[in-house]
Amino acid sequence: MSRSAGEANAASRQHDPALDGHTGSVSLIASTAHRPTNPTPMPHQVKVGLIGCGNISQAYFVGCKRYNILDLVACADLEFSRAQAKAASHGVRALTVDELLADPEIEIVINLTIPRAHASINERILRAGKHAYVEKPFALNLAEAKRVLALAKRKKLLVGGAPDTFLGGGIQTARQLLEDGAIGQPVAATAYCMGHGHESWHPAPEFYYQTGGGPMFDMGPYYLTALVNLLGPVRRVSGSAKTSFPTRTITSQPLAGQKIKVAVPTHYAGTLEFANGVIATLIMSFDVWPGAPMPRIELFGSEGTMLVPDPNTFTGPVQIRRAGENAFADAPLTHSEARLRGTGVADMAYSILRRRRNFRCNGELATHVVEIMAAFEKASKSGRYVTIATRFKQPKILPPQLPDNVLDA
Ligand SMILES: NC(=O)c1ccc[n+]([C@@H]2O[C@H](COP(=O)([O-])OP(=O)(O)OC[C@H]3O[C@@H](n4cnc5c(N)ncnc54)[C@H](O)[C@@H]3O)[C@@H](O)[C@H]2O)c1
Repeated sequence: MSRSAGEANAASRQHDPALDGHTGSVSLIASTAHRPTNPTPMPHQVKVGLIGCGNISQAYFVGCKRYNILDLVACADLEFSRAQAKAASHGVRALTVDELLADPEIEIVINLTIPRAHASINERILRAGKHAYVEKPFALNLAEAKRVLALAKRKKLLVGGAPDTFLGGGIQTARQLLEDGAIGQPVAATAYCMGHGHESWHPAPEFYYQTGGGPMFDMGPYYLTALVNLLGPVRRVSGSAKTSFPTRTITSQPLAGQKIKVAVPTHYAGTLEFANGVIATLIMSFDVWPGAPMPRIELFGSEGTMLVPDPNTFTGPVQIRRAGENAFADAPLTHSEARLRGTGVADMAYSILRRRRNFRCNGELATHVVEIMAAFEKASKSGRYVTIATRFKQPKILPPQLPDNVLDA
């Protein structure tokens, strides 16, 4: 069977993973066989399609416009009327999923479906010869994540996804400070995400209580991606997990009053041991009402303590209290906090155009996070530590002081 035009287009920019991690020197110049001797560099755009026009899609339609490198041209949804509504408000084409995947000009497809569809839609995107960027979680389990990674590798395409919030000014500054020794050698960390779930605000919250949901698979990606970006890979996990309430009642519109059967743990407590020796304590819960204010993420070092901002945002503040000081002080941000969802998609687009560039929101990192998330329930059931086998390369810090609409110097 001959390749579709779409495959041919994306294949012309296939990605060689062996080149990841090196600094690229290829400039953003439109490729042309008849290039003038003194070409004027022109910004080159990557055409993007989006599947899943639900709650979070608005943030992507707006966020992708921020980056000149992205040209979001079409959207699709199982419910075509949703795609039509978003297409009308954002000036893109509404297509069926099959039409979008067959569109020759689209190179990246953003997958904003619900968690149980993430891996299968990613596989369809990759088989269509396009790069796949997916909302979190990357997959429901490690086997699924590895299958998607292997397919992307075979096809020489990029796969990866949310969260991209670690590319925001808050977490980038925290990483910069950590590497500059602002708190000395990291010793320990804490991460707390404690609340009462999403049925009070999300219009269709059922998926948050099915496989791929719960506080670990829903909120864990933000906290764990931030932690592994800061501290590197995790080597083992211990934990306890439980489901405190077997049913939940939706209080948001339009489904208020409907009951949801809970299929996943909704309260987790555990520890993470990082390969660098840091020990982190973590609680993720949809079962508790607000208590005393807790830091989201705190890093404890040999010379001081750092308060890392909410990893579900791109913003600061980052606060430091050094040994001997009696109060925290704001640290100046080294990176822009005016970033939006879509930053990770732009990161992917740069890495498509600059082949040697490290794609930060990559599938290996996301797979490591999936393995960690699944390990907490495994540890709880077995009563044992669970060893984490996957590894990833810690993404490089973004160049400091970049303008808000670019991601490379
Ligand atoms: N809502 C948020 O604030 C938020 C924030 C961050 C991340 N996310 C993540 O984004 C993803 C989507 O969340 P949401 O809140 O937009 O959900 P949603 O239920 O509002 O929207 C999902 C959309 O995907 C469509 N869909 C489902 N399966 C499909 C398939 N197989 N093919 C094509 N379309 C399909 C649905 O019809 C729906 O329109 C989830 O993984 C969620 O964890 C959501």
